[in-house]
Order: sequence, then structure tokens, then C-alpha cells
Amino acid sequence: MPEGFTVWFTGLPSSGKSTLARLLEPVIQRRGLHVEVFDGDEVRQHLSKGLGFSKEDRDENIRRIAYVAGLVTRTGGVAITCAISPYRALRQEARQRIGRFVEVFVQCPVEECIERDVKGLYKKALSGEIQNFTGISDPYEEPENPEVVVETHRESPEESLSKIVRRLEELGYLPPEGFGGLTPVPVPTYLYREIQRRLDRSRFHDVSHYVTHLLVQALDDLQEMPITDQQRQQILGRLKELGYVE
Ligand SMILES: Nc1ncnc2c1ncn2[C@@H]1O[C@H](COP(=O)(O)OP(=O)(O)OP(=O)(O)O)[C@@H](O)[C@H]1O
Ligand SMILES: [Mg+2]
Repeated sequence: MPEGFTVWFTGLPSSGKSTLARLLEPVIQRRGLHVEVFDGDEVRQHLSKGLGFSKEDRDENIRRIAYVAGLVTRTGGVAITCAISPYRALRQEARQRIGRFVEVFVQCPVEECIERDVKGLYKKALSGEIQNFTGISDPYEEPENPEVVVETHRESPEESLSKIVRRLEELGYLPPEGFGGLTPVPVPTYLYREIQRRLDRSRFHDVSHYVTHLLVQALDDLQEMPITDQQRQQILGRLKELGYVE
């Protein structure tokens, strides 16, 4: 089973969490991983129905999200969460619970968020119609050591997305696209199915991982190789980067 992880977005209302989560979801799916998105709004309609916006209720909301994100991560999936998650201590708690945790600080000046006001809630908060609104009448504690910072007031959504994807690759959570330049070998469907049937799922994510493993073994076993030492080193270096050999 592949190893899962959680991408934890945090930022002011209208900063761009949901937008980036929706862009990130298909990117991760294309790399062969299972993804679940826990968006604040949907969570509050189901998992956290009935909770309000007091400090206590906000904390409870985050604990529930961290719990389910932890389950997804533990079972080899990728959880993407997009809740404001304004309190540092609760994000820290989530990080500790989940382990493989990537905090993305979606930074945007509150003036710009007010301008965007995607859901019209800043207007209501500023006129006093709603209370305890993060950024206006409730605190937001900025992350101190997030894995990624995106600055959505000066980046396009695509630029912010590629920053996140690059970081996930650097951290080794996301396999590089198309195995980072290795040419995929075409396999007829019937053979693909047969290989899939033989997969030892505790060791290999999918057919490509398994086939790569067989190639590495063959490479190791070959006494004489029709390639130079330098080429061999290059190949081994790349396989090491990808985590297929120690
Ligand atoms: N680099 C960027 N990344 C994400 N969104 C951006 C960026 N630049 C501009 N935007 C715009 O900012 C808005 C962000 O809205 P979005 O609903 O994603 O915010 P949110 O953080 O999920 O807010 P909420 O906490 O209220 O759910 C969108 O209209 C989006 O198009
Ligand atoms: Mg949102």
C-alpha cells in the first residue's frame, strides 16, 4: 500500500484554500494516489454539524477534521483539508496526530481578502451582522514553520499550485510525474492485468513500481553490462532518488 499524507491548508477566509485544494486534487490523482478533500464548508454541514465559531467549537471542528484526515493518511490515501484552522496549537496537534503532514500557509493580506469576499461574509462581519469572524473579529495565528507558503495576492492559482506540487515532490510524498523522465514501457492490457494480479501489495504501489523493481533486480544480477559505469551510476542515482533502491 502506498504511504499516505495530509496536505493541510490554513489561511484567512477568501485567501484561496478551496481553490488550491480543488486544483491539487486531480494532480495527486494523476500520480496514482487516492485523494479525499475535507473542505470546511462541507465538513460543517456533516461531520461538524451543529458546531459554531467559539474557540471551543472551532477547536472541536479541527480535531474532527484531523481525526478523519489521519484515517485517510493511515490507510494510504491523501487527505486535503481546507479549513481556516486559525489556532497554531490545534494545527500542531493535527500535525502530531497525523505524522505525514504538509502545512500550506495560504497567505493573503486581509484587505485583499475583504476585496475578494467570495462568500460575502466579510461584508456581514464588518457591518456587525455576524460575530467571531476570522480576520475581523476573531484571531488568526500565522504558521511559524509551514512546509509551503503561497502568496495568493501576487501569484496566480496555477503558480501557487506548482509551488505546492514541487514541495510535495521534494519531500518525497509525491512521485514525480511520469517517473521524472524515465520512459514508461507499454504493456498490453492482458499482461498488465496479469502483473497486477501478482502484485505484492504490501511492497508495491502499482504495476510500474513492480516492473521497475524487476528491472532493478535484473540490473543487479547482470554480470556484464552493455553500458558504461557512468551510465550505471546515473541509472542507480535516479532509482535512488525515486526511492526504489537504498
Ligand atoms: N494564487 C491564488 N490561489 C488561490 N486563489 C486565488 C489565487 N489568486 C486569486 N485567487 C482567488 O481568490 C479566491 C479564493 O477563494 P476560496 O474560496 O478558494 O478561498 P477560501 O480560502 O477557501 O475561503 P473560505 O475560508 O471562506 O472557504 C478565488 O476567487 C480565487 O480565484
Ligand atoms: Mg473554502
